[in-house]
Amino acid sequence: MPTRINPSILAADFANFESELGRIRSADLVHVDIMDNHFVPNLTFGLAMVERLQQVSPLPLDVHLMIDDPDRWAPGYAEAGAFSVTFHAEAATDAVGLARRLRAIGARAGIALKPGTPVEPYLDLLPEFDQVLIMTVEPGFGGQSFIDATMPKLEAVAGAVRATGLDVWLQVDGGINEETIVTAADAGADTFVAGSSVFNSSDPAAQIAALRAAANA
Ligand code: DX5
Ligand code: ZN
Repeated sequence: MPTRINPSILAADFANFESELGRIRSADLVHVDIMDNHFVPNLTFGLAMVERLQQVSPLPLDVHLMIDDPDRWAPGYAEAGAFSVTFHAEAATDAVGLARRLRAIGARAGIALKPGTPVEPYLDLLPEFDQVLIMTVEPGFGGQSFIDATMPKLEAVAGAVRATGLDVWLQVDGGINEETIVTAADAGADTFVAGSSVFNSSDPAAQIAALRAAANA
């Protein structure tokens, strides 16, 4: 099973994104956390930043929208060229309709679930999505501790994906380090977001390699 490591630039130096992207060239995608101070109590950056990152990033962009009303805003990120656009199930009015619009624009469509959101309503909808993001912390901030209690949800999605044979990527986000990545990989994750563990390292390339090795062990 391929393993993807997606560093989150939420933990990068906000004054130097272009050079920070150069430190993570050995990763698979760049995870871009969009927060609107409404869906989550934190504010990052928006579409103009993603349009510019798209121009300078050596890696494809994995956009994670922690915003209200993704039905209105998410297609713009797909139009900007993001490789994947993941919106929150809790915020979307018409998740399936939105995923279809994202795919029609040419992006991979992802759906994210907060730790307390049950996964069952979405298991029958897997053909509509390219990625399911099981949040392993409450969205809003980097540097939080991995919530083990989210693993049964991941196992449930992994089982449903296996049963259908679909190519749906299973992403985890929050508190991923060399130990927790093993737990998440064992539960079925194949795509791992890591913010502080990569960017707080003095050698991000070595840290990306260590995470990859741990996930594949
Ligand atoms: C949290 C964000 C994460 C965050 C992860 O709401 O969605 O992507 O950057 O940061 P770490 O890896 O530090 O938990
Ligand atoms: Zn994220």
